[in-house]
Amino acid sequence: MEPKDIIAQLSALKEQFESGLVQVTDEQAIRAHQAAFLGAKGAVTTLSRMIKDVPPEARPEVGRVFNAAKKEISAAVAAAIEQSRLAREQQDLTQHVDLTLPGRIPQGIGQLHPLTIVMYDIVDIFTAMGFDVATGPEIETDYYNFEALNFPPLHPARDMQDTLFIKEGHTLLRTHTSPVQIRTMLSRPLPIQIIAPGAVYRRDDDPTHSPMFVQIEGLLVDQGVSFGHLKGVLEAFLNEVFGEDVALRLRPSFFPFTEPSAEVDIQCISCRGSGCRLCSQTGWLEILGCGMVDPNVLEGVGIDPERYTGFAFGLGIDRIAMLRYEGITSIKLFYENDPRFLSCFTR
Ligand code: DAH
Repeated sequence: MEPKDIIAQLSALKEQFESGLVQVTDEQAIRAHQAAFLGAKGAVTTLSRMIKDVPPEARPEVGRVFNAAKKEISAAVAAAIEQSRLAREQQDLTQHVDLTLPGRIPQGIGQLHPLTIVMYDIVDIFTAMGFDVATGPEIETDYYNFEALNFPPLHPARDMQDTLFIKEGHTLLRTHTSPVQIRTMLSRPLPIQIIAPGAVYRRDDDPTHSPMFVQIEGLLVDQGVSFGHLKGVLEAFLNEVFGEDVALRLRPSFFPFTEPSAEVDIQCISCRGSGCRLCSQTGWLEILGCGMVDPNVLEGVGIDPERYTGFAFGLGIDRIAMLRYEGITSIKLFYENDPRFLSCFTR
């Protein structure tokens, strides 16, 4: 037998094998196809028995060609089997896995943030007394944050606010919730009775001060409103938060937008007045600022101070939360949002 004839027959078998391989897709059929060529009775095996009939000097070369062809066939079979496995896996996935189902790992249910809990509680107390909730923007203008609140330009009280300016002297991050007083008086009819909770910002950063913190503002404007009404409302509020037996103290103070102004202290909830670290040995804890709305502020928003009077107050929610949840030593804990801390609070 001529070497070229046997090699030509081998190439014909290879082509036959290749065109047949693309027709079979499952692993069993691929293996059967392989056996039809390379098995004990396979076509290539049978043909290889004829190598002995070619002239002896050509046998090594013909043998090499056969070996190469068998290797190629085996490699093609392995690749086809791998591809068939992948295809089956893909099919299994699309048939048996519903990607829209929730995962099997238990998902924790979220909770209210401690500051949100305290804010909701405070809002509940005031809405029960007839206050409405009002809001305002956190990016404010100098007019609402200072000017309309009777902080004249260059007034030293502006320095105390550690303002974060967006545009010096014009746009800023509100330093308190008091600008909502102005927005409300300009937009709502009298009488007005609102509280305004929200975030405020100052250039301040230590264990008791965070650059962002949360306040609640209160404002009541009507005919015949007196300082006595203010004291009554605050007493009712603080008794609700800290207990019926908590003693209050009003200290004269100054705010540009109230006249007269006062700061309200409660008797220290830790030592009950005898003096401890929490109250810096004074027996009292400063809780909020308040006062009668300054006639200048009323006039500035077009309310006649001869006919109407009002009171206002402002307090820090973080401060109330730190007192209510004893053991919170840094205001930062409220803003780091460590889940181990946050999970300690429920409403
Ligand atoms: N806005 C003041 C501050 O952040 C707090 C305050 C004091 C608000 C007295 C008031 C008030 O409404 O009457 O320091």
